[in-house]
Amino acid sequence: MDRARLEAASAALNRQLGSRPAIGIVLGSGLAPLAAEVVEARRIPTSSLPGYPPSTVLGHEGVFLAGKIAERELLMLSGRIHAYEGYGLDEVVMPVRLMALAGVRTLILTNAAGGLAPEFQPGDLMLIEDHLNLQGNSPLRGPNVADWGPRFPDMTEVYSRRLRELALARAGAQGLDLRRGVYASCPGPQYETPAEIRMLRALGADAVGMSTVPEAIVARHMGLEVLAFSVISNLAAGISPTPLDHEEVVAAGLAVGPRLAALVRAIVADLPEESS
Ligand code: HPA
Repeated sequence: MDRARLEAASAALNRQLGSRPAIGIVLGSGLAPLAAEVVEARRIPTSSLPGYPPSTVLGHEGVFLAGKIAERELLMLSGRIHAYEGYGLDEVVMPVRLMALAGVRTLILTNAAGGLAPEFQPGDLMLIEDHLNLQGNSPLRGPNVADWGPRFPDMTEVYSRRLRELALARAGAQGLDLRRGVYASCPGPQYETPAEIRMLRALGADAVGMSTVPEAIVARHMGLEVLAFSVISNLAAGISPTPLDHEEVVAAGLAVGPRLAALVRAIVADLPEESS
């Protein structure tokens, strides 16, 4: 993505924001109820940002919610962009770059995912500890903008150890059995075959989905601290006794939404109030 396109959208977003939220949250499938946690919320449709990728799904327009959770100013994205819609990975990560340029220093990513680890059940919440980028490409491909981050960013700790420990502590205090694992990001939109799931398991994946990893890579490129959660919406293909179904994925997100919302609220309450 060229710098001018991103900066035009960023200027439009920052004008509408009028403040510098330090926290960003991206909502996954079925997790829209988390938006109800945001108080003093203002809606900024992504269609109001020049150069922002147009939504391909009618009725699912992207919207940034600017508001507060636990007195912390934050920016929440509902309606993320997926590569399978036909976008380049540079477009997929545009919302994260916009958040970073708006002042966000801590990014919380959420998604729905299929479970591979034998102990996982649909409805579990998983803390992402590490990832496999199987998108077949990098969102950082192309000229590097040195002002945004380094050409060769380190990925030793994509998901902040400090924030993971905070999440586990807050989950424990809420009696929530937070699972932990490695998330594999595949391009989709088709779900995996049972052979692909056996391959992913052999590679070390505990959960599989079609998002999150490009966003996490770019967030690290820009020096953000990242925390990410998967809602295990279904058992992966070949492990599940039934065929996979998008409605099931969305329903699982809705069912787990309140638990994830309570956890996110407790974590956000422990983050600094100001953008550094
Ligand atoms: N595979 C890939 N993506 C998904 C799945 C899955 O089983 N469930 C929810 N998103």
